[in-house]
Amino acid sequence: MTTDTDKFFLGESRFFWGAEKPDDLPPAEKAEVAFAGRSNVGKSSLINALTNRKTMVRTSNTPGQTRQLNFFNIGDNFTLVDMPGYGFAKASKTDIKQWQGMMKAYLRGRVTLRLACVLIDSRHGMKPSDLEMLKLLSESAVPTRLILTKTDEISKAEKEAAVEKLVEAIKKQPAVHPVPLLTSSKTAEGIPELRAAIVETLGLLRV
Ligand code: GTP
Ligand code: MG
Repeated sequence: MTTDTDKFFLGESRFFWGAEKPDDLPPAEKAEVAFAGRSNVGKSSLINALTNRKTMVRTSNTPGQTRQLNFFNIGDNFTLVDMPGYGFAKASKTDIKQWQGMMKAYLRGRVTLRLACVLIDSRHGMKPSDLEMLKLLSESAVPTRLILTKTDEISKAEKEAAVEKLVEAIKKQPAVHPVPLLTSSKTAEGIPELRAAIVETLGLLRV
């Protein structure tokens, strides 16, 4: 079944900008939702799942696939931003510095950024690098939603435990929405709910 909220994601979507440096960003126009998280957590796959595409965004088994900020125009309604992963031990120091500088500059200063989705692998839980990212987002006053990924890999009991742990960990984080979402890009679990959360945050259904 396609709902009203799904329709915002299922029209024409296209990649329109890749930014490697802080002064490379596209003009701030439409509302933006950014996807952040450790390398390989499933950011690019989640954007494909949200827009019902298989290959709009490149995904890979090898961590460090996404190396720039990639901007996708979603049906001319809003913009989804795929970010490079953090916590990737094998990347060179120079690369890591450049990506981090880029992400910080973007997350701190972007007037059109309305929501950051921070993805956490449901099998591994929150890591110190995730907490650093949450800190940066709360300092920048960016509303944040936590998304547990790859739930197809775990049992129902493990899902409940993962949510409980996360809720506990974010109690003292005022910019973070208190309810994490469980998602799988493979089975589409939680995809309609995430679409609805984005539509709600951006106020797209308001008249
Ligand atoms: P970087 O760009 O390197 O930071 O990675 P990313 O966070 O964009 O991850 P990506 O979407 O490229 O996915 C990484 C790997 O995880 C790929 O092999 C995907 O097929 C796999 N993957 C992504 N989402 C899911 C999911 O929901 N379930 C399962 N089982 N695997 C997934
Ligand atoms: Mg990626």
